[in-house]
Amino acid sequence: MKEQIEQIKISAKEEIKNADTLANLNELRVKYLGKKGQLTSILRGMGALSPEERPIIGGIVNTVRDELENTIKQKEEELEKIEMSKQLENEKIDITLPGSKMKRGSKHPVNRIIEEIEDLFVSMGYDVVSGPELETDEYCFERLNLPKGHPARDMQDSFYVTTEYLLRTQTSAVQAHVMMENKEKSPIRIICPGKTYRRDDDATHSHQFGQVEGLVIDKNISLADLKGTLEVFVKAMLGQNSELRFRPSYFPFTEPSYEVDVSCFKCGGKGCNLCKQTGWIEILGSGIVHPKVLEMNGYDPKKYSGFAFGTGLDRLAMFKYGITDIRLLYANDVRFLEQFDRKDEVNEIKY
Ligand code: DAH
Repeated sequence: MKEQIEQIKISAKEEIKNADTLANLNELRVKYLGKKGQLTSILRGMGALSPEERPIIGGIVNTVRDELENTIKQKEEELEKIEMSKQLENEKIDITLPGSKMKRGSKHPVNRIIEEIEDLFVSMGYDVVSGPELETDEYCFERLNLPKGHPARDMQDSFYVTTEYLLRTQTSAVQAHVMMENKEKSPIRIICPGKTYRRDDDATHSHQFGQVEGLVIDKNISLADLKGTLEVFVKAMLGQNSELRFRPSYFPFTEPSYEVDVSCFKCGGKGCNLCKQTGWIEILGSGIVHPKVLEMNGYDPKKYSGFAFGTGLDRLAMFKYGITDIRLLYANDVRFLEQFDRKDEVNEIKY
């Protein structure tokens, strides 16, 4: 048995010496020292030995095992070093190669418009508020003087989720929230930019679009306040040379109501394809808050008056940047979006 052990030791050492990979070395570990390995089977067969022989043979096996373990360990270190240097050789980095360009995101045109509007109105003392996009019929319509069955509801093709809940068709819904939540019934000066939804989808309408709403309630608010505010707003957005035209119109929540046109910024009012030869472009709806709306939302119309306005953010972005298809704003095409990675002088977008 002693010779057998000696034989195992010699061949194990020889094989370990010749191992050329860590995987190979591991196989040898299993072959000799593993549970079913050659040395282990000797220990198992010791039952057949006499009690005197057993400790002697056991001692020899243990010594050989320690020796082989050491040899394997040394070989392992040696092979690890070799493999590491091979790896380093393969992974050599050429620091003289030009770097790969990092892609930088750009601000979405509608977000640029929102930020500009917020900056302007905050500088005039307004708060920026938001409201739910999933809205109740009550807040989207009823509290704005649009009871069920009102014909003006047809102006807005809605996405109803249940009979009571819908995706808001207008940010005007936020007017009612702000008035109702103001328990002291103190003056209000807010704007609310946000997403709105209607069942439209063509080159100039999208089923989802952005609006910004404005609401001011205080004592002695008049049409002059509305006109002055909108003039500052429109000129800041579309150029100081813009002229405004107030056209009487109808909205259930304002009385009187006006649609506001701006002189065409493309032709300066002479008439072109953008303004359909009229020289004017419609950009927002506005008016003096209807006394019924004040009353329904807890404000005394004898004490308070107010003005409101609402406009489409997408339209503003399209006008400002010369975009002719609204769907581009939602297609997430980087070739379109990355053109907004420049300063505010962008005014002609190519696509
Ligand atoms: N909510 C209207 C719309 O979506 C726009 C509007 C008109 C808002 C008049 C107003 C307003 O606040 O006073 O068509």
